[in-house]
Amino acid sequence: MNSKPIRIAPSILAADFGRLHEQLQAIEAAGADCVHVDVMDGSFVPNITIGQPVVAAARQATRLPLDVHLMICDPDRHIAGFAEAGADVITVHVEACTHLHRTLQNIRSLGKRAGVALNPATSLETVRWVLGEVDMVLVMSVNPGFGGQTFIETTLERLERVRVMAQEQGAGPDIEVDGGVVLDNAAAIAKAGANVLVSGTGILGREDWGLAVQTMRRNGESGRDAAAKTNRG
Ligand code: DX5
Ligand code: ZN
Repeated sequence: MNSKPIRIAPSILAADFGRLHEQLQAIEAAGADCVHVDVMDGSFVPNITIGQPVVAAARQATRLPLDVHLMICDPDRHIAGFAEAGADVITVHVEACTHLHRTLQNIRSLGKRAGVALNPATSLETVRWVLGEVDMVLVMSVNPGFGGQTFIETTLERLERVRVMAQEQGAGPDIEVDGGVVLDNAAAIAKAGANVLVSGTGILGREDWGLAVQTMRRNGESGRDAAAKTNRG
């Protein structure tokens, strides 16, 4: 099981970018644990979102850790820029990295936490031999590119397998899930082994962000605790 604290990471992709400063402060006031920042280049994924200047602006608006998800080709060219802009965690996609091991070491050498992300159809084996080099594994639960998509159910089995693989390798990375995470599936997701829950529309699309963060965390904790009971079982 994953006994780490459940952490809630609202994705600013679902925010009003015209009022980003204010919305970041509201995310902090809502009790979120970090802010998930989706960087898309229109090439690795079909959508274009934001780059380093917006990350730097976000850095000024909140004290929360910035969890920067790079959905871009050739991320090596931009890692230093995002580190400088104020990212705390930098996650690259395994599908975008020719020398993944080196890229992850590069992120860590800049004093940042390194994450590796896998698309829903990517073999989990692609990350087995870098689990010692990462602070977080991001298991995508939608095909990346857009917010508001439906959670792909096979992700639950993938989360369990990543957790087991990490144990086998003697590693203990955070396990993050991203895409279609809502209040109703948070317990099952945490039960499967995720401890960092990214949610865009599932939180920012609701009226009361504080209540949404609190409920999602509580639902996640109940799933995690149910998994612990089953394992003791
Ligand atoms: C999808 C992005 C997600 C997105 C999640 O490509 O990586 O982080 O913002 O949005 P929701 O929670 O609305 O599915
Ligand atoms: Zn994301």
